[in-house]
Amino acid sequence: MALHFVTALDELKDSTCQLYSVAGRSIGLIQTDGAVYAVRNVCPHKRAPICRGTFGGTMLPSDPDSFVFGMQEQILRCPWHGWEFDLTTGKTLCGDEHKKLTLYPVTIKENEVYVDL
Ligand code: FES
Repeated sequence: MALHFVTALDELKDSTCQLYSVAGRSIGLIQTDGAVYAVRNVCPHKRAPICRGTFGGTMLPSDPDSFVFGMQEQILRCPWHGWEFDLTTGKTLCGDEHKKLTLYPVTIKENEVYVDL
C-alpha cells in the first residue's frame, strides 16, 4: 500500500461524489460531515459506475403506518439497480454480505487529500 496524492481538500464539494483517476483506478471522493471517503467507482453487484448514483439517506425499518428516513449523508445508491450501500462500512443494505464497496483509507495532510492504495 502507498499513499497517492489526489486533490486539495478545498476542491471537494460537500455530499458530492467527485471522480479522480488514481494509479489507474477510478476513485470517487465524498466529503461529508467533516470526513472524506474514497470509494472504487465500481458497484459490487454488476459493476456499474457507482459514483454516478445518488448520495444521501434512506428509508429505515419502521411500523407499518409510519415512514422513517435516516442514515442521511451515509448512503450511496447505485444508478443501475438501486442497491444502497453504507459508505462508512461499504456494506449493502440489500442483505448480501458478499457484495461490499471497495473503500480506501484516506489521509489528509494540511490541505491535501491522499488515498492509500
Ligand atoms: S450494478 Fe449496482 S445495483 Fe446493480
